[in-house]
Amino acid sequence: MIHKIDELSADISRLKANNSEELEALRIKYLSKKGEIAALMNDFRTVAAEHKREIGQRLNELKTKAQDKINELKESVDRPAASESIPDLTRTSYPYHMGTRHPLSVVKKEICDILSRLGFSIAEGPEIEDDWHVFSSLNFAADHPARDMQDTFFVMHGADILLRTHTSSVQTRVMEKTQPPIRIICPGRVYRNEAISYRAHCFFHQVEALYIDKNVSFADLKQVLLFFAKEMFGSNTQIRLRPSFFPFTEPSAEMDISCNLCGGKGCPFCKYTGWVEILGCGMVDPNVLRNCGIDPDIYSGYALGMGIERITNLKYQVKDLRLFSENDVRFLRQFEAAT
Ligand code: DAH
Repeated sequence: MIHKIDELSADISRLKANNSEELEALRIKYLSKKGEIAALMNDFRTVAAEHKREIGQRLNELKTKAQDKINELKESVDRPAASESIPDLTRTSYPYHMGTRHPLSVVKKEICDILSRLGFSIAEGPEIEDDWHVFSSLNFAADHPARDMQDTFFVMHGADILLRTHTSSVQTRVMEKTQPPIRIICPGRVYRNEAISYRAHCFFHQVEALYIDKNVSFADLKQVLLFFAKEMFGSNTQIRLRPSFFPFTEPSAEMDISCNLCGGKGCPFCKYTGWVEILGCGMVDPNVLRNCGIDPDIYSGYALGMGIERITNLKYQVKDLRLFSENDVRFLRQFEAAT
């Protein structure tokens, strides 16, 4: 019996298992109820009384040794080999998506950067406004259609609180508080009561620019417009000004740029005219200056305003305005490189 115990003990010292199936087979062979050690335990009954103490002790030691060995093998089977657990330190990291700027933020930043280089600084105002700042101060006639419920969202009807329909309201807020020289850009969200479709939404974004000082002329405006168009759409871009009307500017104009898709030759995008409209502008109406406490006999200025969605569409040919507010990552990730 002693001999058999020694033999088994030596076997156990040499045990190896490459995987959990092999390990389980070993456990069954040595430790199960029908295993080798259980068999010895059975034979123990036949051992002469004077040897029982010694053999009993050796048998218990053998059982403990087998259990320890199986546990040790289990650990090494569960744990990957040392060579696998050290990562390959030369491997490049896993690619993972950084957040990206929203395309409208990308373009807003670009517009603001270009105008900042000309000395404009950013001014912001509230989205929930009153009639004075959005309409009356800006020379809108009392019966101007833009005031109509069809266009404007009123927050509290009768209480004269509404969602601004353009960022021109920020002009008034700044002019009321500051005497010229004023040179600001006002980016922000605006709201209009429009049916939502691929080309209209009930909210969108604008950037407004305002410059008020002594002797500001239309020529100054034109230079800034040309600079802006070339910086934004490339140095070959040309501009054209068409007479227009806005209540808050006189004279007023709309600016077209040579179509940035066909270079002005004519294509479906510019409806074969070679030109696409991008903004409204003009010389600030003396009434507006007066409304804001600025003397129009001393000061003059220009203003311009553009839709950020419009500029983004021109740069990136986004066909459907609704994409900008749907938060579909497949759309948004296309602008990763632009951020
Ligand atoms: N506020 C005008 C709009 O929402 C855009 C605009 C036109 C702003 C001419 C101006 C401007 O400052 O001079 O359609």
